[in-house]
Amino acid sequence: MALPLSRTDRKMGARFLLNGTEHEVLSVVPTMTVLDYLRGEAGLRGTKEGCAEGDCGACTVAVVRHGGTRAEAINACLYTVGQLDGARLTTVEGLSGRNEPPDPVQQAMISCHASQCGFCTPGFVMALWTLRQEGGTPDDDAIHEALAGNLCRCTGYRPIVEAARQACRNAQPDQGIPDGASPAPQESLTTGDVAWFAPVTLDALLALRQSHPGALLLAGGTDVGLQFSKERCHAAVTISTSHVRELRLLRETPGALHIGAAVTISEALPACERTWPALGAIMRRFGSRQIRNAATVAGNLANASPIGDLAPCLMALDAQLDLAGPDGERSLPVEEFFHAYRRTALDDAEVITRIRIPRPADGTIFRAWKISKRHDQDISAVIGAFRVVLRNGRIADMRIAFGGMAAVPARARETERVLAGRTWSESTVRDAGDAMERDFTPIDDQRASAAYRLRVAANLLVRLYRDVAGESAVEVNQA
Ligand SMILES: Cc1cc2nc3c(=O)[nH]c(=O)nc-3n(C[C@H](O)[C@H](O)[C@H](O)COP(=O)(O)OP(=O)(O)OC[C@H]3O[C@@H](n4cnc5c(N)ncnc54)[C@H](O)[C@@H]3O)c2cc1C
Ligand code: FES
Ligand code: FES
Repeated sequence: MALPLSRTDRKMGARFLLNGTEHEVLSVVPTMTVLDYLRGEAGLRGTKEGCAEGDCGACTVAVVRHGGTRAEAINACLYTVGQLDGARLTTVEGLSGRNEPPDPVQQAMISCHASQCGFCTPGFVMALWTLRQEGGTPDDDAIHEALAGNLCRCTGYRPIVEAARQACRNAQPDQGIPDGASPAPQESLTTGDVAWFAPVTLDALLALRQSHPGALLLAGGTDVGLQFSKERCHAAVTISTSHVRELRLLRETPGALHIGAAVTISEALPACERTWPALGAIMRRFGSRQIRNAATVAGNLANASPIGDLAPCLMALDAQLDLAGPDGERSLPVEEFFHAYRRTALDDAEVITRIRIPRPADGTIFRAWKISKRHDQDISAVIGAFRVVLRNGRIADMRIAFGGMAAVPARARETERVLAGRTWSESTVRDAGDAMERDFTPIDDQRASAAYRLRVAANLLVRLYRDVAGESAVEVNQA
């Protein structure tokens, strides 16, 4: 049940360090956005609201999770006060006091004339501040990636990038994070009629799912957070997966990479990129750094968007999903998870616990491409993922999956059938492109027409061929 935003009596409030000082939030619902809390209750108006949906970066703040050491840039407009419980939060006000010299990032923004109206500036400063905390000297690619979630409408990016180069040159890691141990996270927060649970074990999570059937299950909140931010609606009961130990595990075994359902995309990215560089490249284009620092792989699958970026990649890689519910655990291939538009195989009280991506056999080729109007911070029109094994110049095995071509992410089975056993050549993949029309009947929408989608899907097959042909020979363990 969704309730309108209201202030009610609190029983237990979120506790966290805000710019080094312990705060307990007694006055607002745990699902209030951090941005509303900062600008309203806390009176810290340096953090700005632009879009309130994760797109502009004006609200960027830095969060160190409980038990963590890294400051991560987060969109305060989507993150909730409940998610802060046990964390350390730094806002632009925490960088330097009124009578203190500016932080090196602020100084570089001044020296490089990187601010005009200034509305976007606190967000840029915080995005760069977290980059600086990583230490070293980032190259321009790293700078662009760190700033891809921040929009500036008047200054232009050249001076901002220059400020980034200046501020982050030979930086010492973790220099500016305010000291102090954060309070221990609590397993429940209650503010009047709005309850927040943050279980730490899978058993406790499953028990809560059963005892609160209508509860909102929240991972990073980059999809769900929009209802707090935009619709100003708050579920009566929210269950956060963020502290569930079993769901926080990220494990590499000889056979597979295991990604727990509460592992963020930023956390999973390095391991994914090492084994499947093409998957890493897709993940690097996922939203922005602020989004990736909160969003989970499991949330991306569970929200069952037909244009989600990760489902087609995981389908092509033959990844498996582990689910747990009151009747025990079960596993299924990712491709069997999507039943219909926004409908999945999850039963009511079930949760995703883990995603397992099998390691590629020798000689496996994996490629994936996201086609969107902008390179950064954009939703796919089409996303295609391809896993190929070649033997003696022929296609021994091929899995092709697309997003944006149907109501659910789906395999191109007819195209796969046409290609099976054929000679690996450009004419083969060109011929096979026609089969896409038998696999998919895409829709026209504001992102792309049906005809464009079909053409792009067929062209991606040719791109696959040329991309692989451009490299010396068939790769070993190359993704
Ligand atoms: C600005 C912006 C940019 C974005 N860019 C992209 C993009 O480039 N590509 C893309 O694919 N998506 C993008 N998204 C969408 C979103 O970030 C992703 O879908 C993300 O992976 C959701 O993960 P989350 O952890 O934030 O999920 P949440 O919002 O917390 O939850 C999403 C859904 O998953 C369910 N869920 C979460 N965990 C579990 C679990 N363990 N078991 C069962 N159900 C669960 C929730 O109940 C909810 O229904 C973007 C969103 C925003 C706001
Ligand atoms: S206000 Fe635009 S990203 Fe948060
Ligand atoms: S300085 Fe005006 S929006 Fe960036």
